[in-house]
Amino acid sequence: MNSSVNFIFRKLRPLFFSSDAETAHERMLSLVEIVSKFPGINPFLRWQFREEQPILRTKLFGKNVQNPIGLAAGFDKDGRIHPAMFALGFGFTEIGTVTPRSQSGNPKPRIFRLPEDQALINRLGFNNQGVWKMAERLVSGTKKINPDEADLIDQSGDYPANIASGILGINIGKNKDTPLQKANEDFVSALSALHPFADYFTINVSSPNTEDLRKLQQKEMLSGLLESVCSCREKLDQNHFRKTPLLVKLSPDMDEEGLGNCVRVIQQFPIQGVIATNTTMDRSQLKSSLKIEQGGLSGKPLKARSTEVIRTLFKELGKEVTIIGVGGIFNGEDAYEKIRAGAAAVQIYTALIYEGPGLVRRIKRELSQLLEQDSIKNVADAVGFDS
Ligand SMILES: Cc1cc2nc3c(=O)[nH]c(=O)nc-3n(C[C@H](O)[C@H](O)[C@H](O)COP(=O)(O)O)c2cc1C
Repeated sequence: MNSSVNFIFRKLRPLFFSSDAETAHERMLSLVEIVSKFPGINPFLRWQFREEQPILRTKLFGKNVQNPIGLAAGFDKDGRIHPAMFALGFGFTEIGTVTPRSQSGNPKPRIFRLPEDQALINRLGFNNQGVWKMAERLVSGTKKINPDEADLIDQSGDYPANIASGILGINIGKNKDTPLQKANEDFVSALSALHPFADYFTINVSSPNTEDLRKLQQKEMLSGLLESVCSCREKLDQNHFRKTPLLVKLSPDMDEEGLGNCVRVIQQFPIQGVIATNTTMDRSQLKSSLKIEQGGLSGKPLKARSTEVIRTLFKELGKEVTIIGVGGIFNGEDAYEKIRAGAAAVQIYTALIYEGPGLVRRIKRELSQLLEQDSIKNVADAVGFDS
């Protein structure tokens, strides 16, 4: 069955695609943000799109999820539409990357569609409204938060638990004008401001669009960063009687040694997950003339490399650390491939732009069929099956 909303998306797609990629995305965000505030809209979306298969029910960081398909970071940078994204049928949603202070990002144009490659190039550079605006939204949109109250908020812990209807991850980063030596402070302050709202945090050290950010993946720097963030998380968790998982998001562009170094550092700290991978700088497989554009490449051309990284990580980390696979997933088979390589869950961004809101339901249907064909009783049993 093709839902009417998906039908409308397909009809409107040429209109969306006639404007530049960022304008189209911004229009979609504003539309969904406004429309989903009306009572009944999210239940309507849920009725249109949400279709859960018991075979996909699993656990993520000890919590039950309806399915292991998530929305990747960058789609909803400021946490404006995550309830609607849950209504589309995602099992979990990651908002951000958010930085302590708001920033405008790189000059436009900065997102490019490469339809012949089923890919996108972006050099947004963490454009976002900052942690306080996000906190204000998450707290319900009514209570205004003054940044000067930060300490008070951290200690009181009187924020409501996260208000979304699924697992909500928050992806945090550093501001462009924060020197690399002070990056730890940015991550710590973002974590402190948003701690009450997140089911997990992702430490983003892999975006190619913030100068030198990827250097934080180097041994000493990563070690220093994880030391600061883990000790801050421990204090906050103790104060609030919680256990907040911390994840690290990695780049696909490291060589074997670089990736191995990251793994060894991660193993030294209480890190619960790794997200593999962010976008790539590699342009070797592209047909489009837009391949000359600077920025991170996502979509189909990233698929094989991100799966390779997942495979390497699973060999090293096993199931001790949860691997979330992301990069070029367009259908159930792509998701299955990443799960068999070692991902306990997967995320999607680029395919959603090309395929529209019906994609999540389609991937879930296809993935359950593939599991059934292989006589696998639950998706969790397929994790790392190929290793
Ligand atoms: C326009 C755009 C913006 C993105 N912004 C972020 C971001 O802010 N933080 C982040 O960790 N990843 C970001 N990503 C990377 C995605 O989360 C994902 O890792 C990558 O796109 C690979 O998945 P895909 O092939 O399904 O798109 C962005 C990707 C795109 C296309």
